[in-house]
Amino acid sequence: MLSKFLVILAATAALTAGGRAGAVGADGAGGATPAPVASATPEISKGARLAATCVACHGTNGDTKEGALPRLAGQSRQALSASLHAFKSGRRPSTIMTQIAKGYTDEQIELLAAYFAAQK
Ligand code: HEC
Repeated sequence: MLSKFLVILAATAALTAGGRAGAVGADGAGGATPAPVASATPEISKGARLAATCVACHGTNGDTKEGALPRLAGQSRQALSASLHAFKSGRRPSTIMTQIAKGYTDEQIELLAAYFAAQK
């Protein structure tokens, strides 16, 4: 349900330091708030909402500037999806990403991969 999804979105935005002001309540009466990613496909927009939780470690739009973590932005969708599935299954060793990846369905992993692959 959309309303349930918006509640989850609101909670995610509130929990995320880089949460985009204006994302919450965008469906209100005024309609003055622009869509978060105006030109994106619905798939990438959904991925952007899920990706809010990745920002703290992976940087805004997956663009880690300081080099501690590999950049997510600019990687192919296939590579991102493969990494996340490998973390989720435990095939790929990790400190934290296995726990994180386990929290997402296969469909959500595809949305996350689509979102970060679309970032430059
Ligand atoms: C608490 C910090 C943290 C958060 C939050 C986090 N990551 Fe990670 N991520 C890491 C670390 C650290 C690594 C390196 C592997 C490891 O040690 O777990 C990594 C590695 C990755 C990689 C592999 C990159 C490569 O090219 O090797 C991908 C893909 C990835 N993360 C995606 C995500 C996505 C998508 C999210 C949000 C759902 C996310 N991460 C949230 C810390 C984080």
